[in-house]
Amino acid sequence: MTDIKKGLAGVTVDYTAVSKVNPETNSLLYRGYPVQELAATQPFEAVAYLLWHGELPTANELATLRAEERLHRALDPEVKAAIDLVPLNAHPMDEVRTAVSLLGARDLAGTGSVFEASGTPDENLARSVRLFAALPAIVAYGQRRRRKLDLIEPRDDLDYASNFLWMTFGEEANDVAANAFNRSMILYAEHSFNASTFTARVVTSTLSDLYSAVVAAIGALKGPLHGGANEAVLHIFNEIGDASNVEPWLDKALASKRKIMGFGHRVYKRGDSRVPTMKTALDTLVEHFDRPDVAELYDALEAGFVSRKGIYPNLDFPSGPAYNLLGFDTVTFTPVFIAARITGWTAHILEQAASNALIRPLSEYNGPDERHIEGYVPDAAAAEAEAAVARRAEESAA
Ligand code: COA
Repeated sequence: MTDIKKGLAGVTVDYTAVSKVNPETNSLLYRGYPVQELAATQPFEAVAYLLWHGELPTANELATLRAEERLHRALDPEVKAAIDLVPLNAHPMDEVRTAVSLLGARDLAGTGSVFEASGTPDENLARSVRLFAALPAIVAYGQRRRRKLDLIEPRDDLDYASNFLWMTFGEEANDVAANAFNRSMILYAEHSFNASTFTARVVTSTLSDLYSAVVAAIGALKGPLHGGANEAVLHIFNEIGDASNVEPWLDKALASKRKIMGFGHRVYKRGDSRVPTMKTALDTLVEHFDRPDVAELYDALEAGFVSRKGIYPNLDFPSGPAYNLLGFDTVTFTPVFIAARITGWTAHILEQAASNALIRPLSEYNGPDERHIEGYVPDAAAAEAEAAVARRAEESAA
């Protein structure tokens, strides 16, 4: 009997130097640094640099990256026009996927062959920086057009996180909001071989281009078992209403075997290492916006679910209500996740390309036994070719 690893659970498929998830010690390291330390001390741009280059930037290196990022912040008018073609009631993940696809087609225009499109390491690093710079404008404009508001131009005097909030809301974020948002971006940046990152690596392994890999990763991230969970958490918060409703709501949800989004993880079984840092960031927002009801509901749902199922919250559980307090529409939460995870995806794309092997697993067939089209008679040449293949197979098996 073939040992099937459904969902590739527990299968180690390659090495990576980008991050280490250790469920035993409940820790997550980016290039060796605990993510909590990075979230407490670094701007998101520095973490992006770390993921791409393997080391934190010097002051000069950070200044160079920031200058490059600021150059590419503005929404390309043709990308804006493409976003405007996406129906307003389509999910914004479709909008971002379309925008990245167009950016890729424009950037790769003129590449003579698919080999050329796959690019050199330097070209792919430059593409990564440009996508990192472009995504906030795409996400922010998506939310604004759904609210019937105009595009806001970027500000060169603001760092990445503050500029992202500026372009979304049209007002300068205070330190509490900017800090909580910066932390969330760092926590969302990277998480080893999760479904979307693995998708990006699979596409890269065929020698396809970086944009195709990112577009595929966006598709994987959209699902509620992955990135879409942060949006689903807020739907649950809205459904429950307030902390006093948690127990009866949980009784009903668990009786109907419903999955509670924002809880559980394929790798962490005793709690997600990123949650305490994000919960602290959420607490600062709760205090700043004077919304103790949000913290009460959070605590009651966590306590109720953990005591009944022994399954702990994942990062989406605190980040959903945090993004809500920051003012993001619920449908914008997963696009914000893209803007963070682009750093991890592209670091993995660079790593995969540098040490490539085509990713092509096997499957165990469990369909109908061999059968034939009635009346089909192969012509003599085809019959001889088939017989030759069969002989070769027999010879190599012998
Ligand atoms: N709510 C209710 N039950 C859950 C659960 C949840 N959030 N997460 C896991 N379980 C239960 C499953 O129903 C299953 O129970 P069973 O053995 O009685 O059938 C058991 O725990 C194992 O779950 P399974 O889905 O097989 O584990 P997995 O490792 O494949 O799942 C997730 C990981 C993330 C897909 C899963 O926990 C989940 O669906 N969570 C909600 C979505 C979410 O928050 N995703 C974001 C991840 S960062």
